[in-house]
Amino acid sequence: MKVAVIGGTGKMGRALAKQLSRNNRVVIGSRDPARARDAAQVIPGVEGADYAGASDGAEAAVFAIPYPALMLAVPLRKALSGKLVVSAVNPMRFKGGFFEPALEEGSAAEELAGLLPESRLATGFNHIPWSILDAEEVVPVDVLVAADSEPTFEAAAELVRSIPNLRPLNAGPLSQARGVEAITPLLLNLARLNVTGSLATKFVSGGARRR
Ligand SMILES: NC(=O)c1ccc[n+]([C@@H]2O[C@H](COP(=O)([O-])OP(=O)(O)OC[C@H]3O[C@@H](n4cnc5c(N)ncnc54)[C@H](OP(=O)(O)O)[C@@H]3O)[C@@H](O)[C@H]2O)c1
Repeated sequence: MKVAVIGGTGKMGRALAKQLSRNNRVVIGSRDPARARDAAQVIPGVEGADYAGASDGAEAAVFAIPYPALMLAVPLRKALSGKLVVSAVNPMRFKGGFFEPALEEGSAAEELAGLLPESRLATGFNHIPWSILDAEEVVPVDVLVAADSEPTFEAAAELVRSIPNLRPLNAGPLSQARGVEAITPLLLNLARLNVTGSLATKFVSGGARRR
């Protein structure tokens, strides 16, 4: 699959590009195409372009930009029409010594869906720290995927599975993205308070399986 990583020059974007490139054709997107090419140069098989160039012809895009930069999706609306768009964006603030969700209501993923109304939106990769993704072998991690339709969930799940050791879990419709995005500030607080180093999620199951 050809995947555009929007924000691919950042910490998360570079790590995502590195892992996704194992089984996908990846194009790193940046506001500055030269910066994108520099970032791409160190990952075999990866290309770099500006955001429009990266989105052109992509079958999927992963957004790894800061929440306040979300509006840069607007010019990509046509290029990403009908495409899978995975939002890893977590709106967060640091207040009173702790990280917390920054939005009073809704979620970044739902806002992105509003900016890209013809795209197929899902959450994904929200709470894998870049440092865990950047390793040669990623430790087993669960990735919560919220999406409004089964085909969109499945497409996002397939992208998640293209990175070895990642397990997609269905988190429900996009209205659940708020809960997904809230896990990241919790993990950051846990890592600091318990001096664990970066934390990601792996859920354990027990008892009878039922729907
Ligand atoms: N860091 C993590 O471990 C992690 C894990 C999961 C999810 N996330 C999410 O991924 C997103 C990016 O986090 P990050 O830590 O990778 O941030 P970062 O290192 O600061 O990178 C963000 C990238 O976004 C691009 N960008 C576009 N518009 C921007 C603007 N107005 N201001 C700043 N950067 C802008 C920049 O690329 P160009 O300048 O080249 O366009 C930059 O390289 C956040 O929403 C975060 O919640 C991060």
